[in-house]
Amino acid sequence: MASWAERWRRDFPALRTSRGKGVSYLDSACMSLTPRLVLQAMDEYYSRYPGCGGRSVHRWSSQVTEKVEAMREFSGHFFGGDPSGFVHVRNTTEAINVVAQGLDLHRGDVILLTDQEHNSNLVVWQTLAKAIGLRLKFLELPDDRAFDADSYRDALIKGVRLVSFFHASNLDGRLLPGSEIVESAHDAGAQVLLDGSQAAPHHRLQLARLGVDYYALSLHKMLGPTGTGLLYGAPGALDRLHPLLSGGETVSWSDYASHELLPGPARFEAGLQNYAGIIGAHAALRYLEKVDFSEMAGHERHLQMELDRATRDMPLQRVGLIEPDSKGPIFSFVIPGVDSHDVALFLDAGYGVLVRSGMNCVHSWYRSRGLEGSVRASFYLYTTDREVERLVCGIRELSERVGKRGSERVRGSSPSRRRSRGQRATPFPGQNGSSSPRVRPRSLAGRSSR
Ligand SMILES: Cc1ncc(COP(=O)(O)O)c(C=O)c1O
Repeated sequence: MASWAERWRRDFPALRTSRGKGVSYLDSACMSLTPRLVLQAMDEYYSRYPGCGGRSVHRWSSQVTEKVEAMREFSGHFFGGDPSGFVHVRNTTEAINVVAQGLDLHRGDVILLTDQEHNSNLVVWQTLAKAIGLRLKFLELPDDRAFDADSYRDALIKGVRLVSFFHASNLDGRLLPGSEIVESAHDAGAQVLLDGSQAAPHHRLQLARLGVDYYALSLHKMLGPTGTGLLYGAPGALDRLHPLLSGGETVSWSDYASHELLPGPARFEAGLQNYAGIIGAHAALRYLEKVDFSEMAGHERHLQMELDRATRDMPLQRVGLIEPDSKGPIFSFVIPGVDSHDVALFLDAGYGVLVRSGMNCVHSWYRSRGLEGSVRASFYLYTTDREVERLVCGIRELSERVGKRGSERVRGSSPSRRRSRGQRATPFPGQNGSSSPRVRPRSLAGRSSR
């Protein structure tokens, strides 16, 4: 009988080509794969009604306008909020920027962040702190559990205008208690923005019930096309924002001296939109609607447990929260003495396992702990046991080689060229020697890969 994941897998063309068959895609936290239905929906747009929405009145344009509004309607249903609260954006980063740059913030206002935010929810605040004198406060998250409600309440001092936290972490999958965070913030007179890019793909959200003021998410992490995302604003919340961009389709009228902004989502959707992407994203949400999210959570948890069990005796250093009960499908680790990009190249070249490596855009957290980065494997509904087994085989081989021949260098791949900008080629803390040992992948060593 086909496994739970196998039944979804068939719908993903990237996994079905001869190139895709040799690959274990374990990088869904960066970007998920796209089912055929989504590709078809985008193809239909370009081949059957390639008009611009909201402007012209001809048949193709009217059809696009209807499709875009149908997606907004469906977003309301899928994410549990009023459809007029959903703004089409390119990604989570843009959604956070729309809120940060749109709120009427003043010198001295405090923004509360965790110490584990993605750069998308850090850099914009640092920029504003410099420009207008915001004060940034960081809540330190515990190592042994997802969240400490007492220290959070202590951090909600007078003057906190906005709590801006991730809902689930891209670094270790840690899930924060959304309702509790919102409730305490509102009691303290603060608004809440949640970065839901890692939570939305794995949880059926009820945003209105959650009570959050703003919620940002990326649809390309939930089977949608690249460059598609949503910003949700609770009733009235969007109207409190100045638009980040101004221009066509955001106003009801203009004359040479002034203009009147449209209400709600329209005022934030300036210029011609990514119609194919929005229509494709609608197909992605309709596809996800068929998935039982509690079954998916069970499947992802099973993969976590298997990976955890299979690597327990290996010399891995797990990174971030380990406890699988309070985290999503992310497994972050370090092989002591090996650069994380070298591990990723080894797994790709030798085993066809595609993982993320480096600081996962959470440089602040890694640097505060003196870590050069980690390897991150992440799962989604199409991830199979066999793919996780391949990862385990790759880790095992690499760990054994490092154990035996710690100073051997990889030939045939050049990880330093792939190292992300600004990252130094230094060894892991605690390691003696001038550079990380490189180990030759199995395939590069002339042996067959598995
Ligand atoms: C927690 C978190 N926040 C924000 C982002 C940024 O998402 P995007 O690149 O889609 O804007 C990511 C991307 O991986 C993320 O994991």
